[in-house]
Amino acid sequence: MSDPTRPKGPKIIAVANQKGGVGKTTTAINLAAALVEEGRKVLIVDIDPQGNASTGLGIEAERRTRTTYDLLLEEAPLNEIVLETSIDGLLIAPGTTDLSSADIEMVSNEKRSFLLHDALRQPAIDAFGLDFVLIDCPPSLNLLTVNAMVAAHSVLVPLQSEFFALEGLSQLMLTIRELRQTANPALRIEGVVLTMTDRRNNLSQQVENDARAYLGELVFQTVIPRNVRVSEAPSYAMPVLDYDPMSKGAQAYRALAREMLGSKPAMTA
Ligand SMILES: Nc1ncnc2c1ncn2[C@@H]1O[C@H](COP(=O)(O)OP(=O)(O)OP(=O)(O)O)[C@@H](O)[C@H]1O
Ligand SMILES: [Mg+2]
Repeated sequence: MSDPTRPKGPKIIAVANQKGGVGKTTTAINLAAALVEEGRKVLIVDIDPQGNASTGLGIEAERRTRTTYDLLLEEAPLNEIVLETSIDGLLIAPGTTDLSSADIEMVSNEKRSFLLHDALRQPAIDAFGLDFVLIDCPPSLNLLTVNAMVAAHSVLVPLQSEFFALEGLSQLMLTIRELRQTANPALRIEGVVLTMTDRRNNLSQQVENDARAYLGELVFQTVIPRNVRVSEAPSYAMPVLDYDPMSKGAQAYRALAREMLGSKPAMTA
């Protein structure tokens, strides 16, 4: 069911946190797979020069002839770069190492913050019949991430249950607030999802308690536990939902998708 308050077209969600290794890519891939299981059609847009989302879904470097780099430099439209994955209903706009120089090349363009926004609103996108677009951001608040947040309706923030987890969050929230005052007034926070939790570990539990105390309703009830099957899945080019469907990680991402679809209102910060 689509959200009647949202404009026509897919709901675009930026998966962002400038801290590295917190579970952005893992969340993009597995939340996408879980949404597909719920009957939705999903496009992952990989704008990380590391290209982990593309690799994790089995898109070898040889197949990445046209990528989000071409999209951001206005050298190819979205429909020319989108590839199918082995999962029916899950598409990907692949990333490439070239993206590491894209932000410098984009700076001279006066539309530099709107390049992804415009690319994702080309009429040709309608033909894909998408319900969701998940943008996998790099671990930085650079122009690539700004493009994602300007293109998006909302930001989904994976937060790793570790010491210092909350420290970077204020900078991220500040960026979101600034973008609301400028390029994207309607930008919302989809939610903060705790990743790699271990409820037997006091520190992990403390981070969860603190996050819920500071961020309240912004934090998804669903948490993603640390689960080795989740980390193994990308080397088999599969979401954990297919690699080990009954694993704790797979079940958690299914629960996250259901919580998100359960129309918990996306809140402002
Ligand atoms: N729930 C989990 N259980 C176990 N390992 C996990 C889990 N989530 C992520 N990982 C592992 O943690 C590492 C970092 O995850 P991931 O690549 O998703 O983070 P990221 O935020 O995208 O990183 P980067 O900032 O480099 O893009 C990966 O090796 C991944 O397999
Ligand atoms: Mg990543």
